[in-house]
Amino acid sequence: MTTSKNVVWHNAVITRQLRQQQNKHKSLVLWFTGLSGSGKSTLAHAVEEKLYEKNYRTMVLDGDNVRHGLCGDLGFSNEDRIENIRRIGELSKLFVEAGMIVLNAFISPFKMDRQQVRRILPHGDFIEIFCDCSIDVCESRDVKGLYKKARNGEISHFTGISSPYEPPDKPELCVNTAKLSIEESVDVVLQMLESRC
Ligand code: ADX
Repeated sequence: MTTSKNVVWHNAVITRQLRQQQNKHKSLVLWFTGLSGSGKSTLAHAVEEKLYEKNYRTMVLDGDNVRHGLCGDLGFSNEDRIENIRRIGELSKLFVEAGMIVLNAFISPFKMDRQQVRRILPHGDFIEIFCDCSIDVCESRDVKGLYKKARNGEISHFTGISSPYEPPDKPELCVNTAKLSIEESVDVVLQMLESRC
């Protein structure tokens, strides 16, 4: 989508297919969604380590990091979160064109936004992984101390407390990050990936 009439698409000579051949694997998006503290980033980085050992070309995009740069102008209102996920979706599409496996760790609380990213990618390239962990467990971990701040009213629009989270209906994978160890969670993701890339 573009608002300018005078912009013309330029086809690449070095295509996604060529890059995939060179990399010896398919490119795709692993989209980790879940509450803050549900283990999305930890899992994405741990999976990336395993893929890196196998010589896969990978990149982790993570909410906290991306919000220091590309999305540094965005806050946590519904509109800003929608824009956050839209930008990440477009960025992921570029990484997929670049032949890479993108591991995205964003709360991405709204179903529609995740569906929209799925829609802009070729069929089968968006793998939704739900990091299923109750708010009680996330809050008891409170690694960043944000749940405490949210309860004290120091942070507004906090997911799970003052802003909604919509779990996926049919994710490609559901990982019970409350029960499984990180190693077990990584294995579950790698098993699912085996047949896909
Ligand atoms: S998303 O909702 O737009 O997908 P994103 O994943 O980029 O969120 O950022 C979430 C991270 O921002 C959390 O892990 C947490 O560290 C931090 N954060 C700061 N304020 C909030 C808030 N109001 N709600 C949720 N997370 C917040």
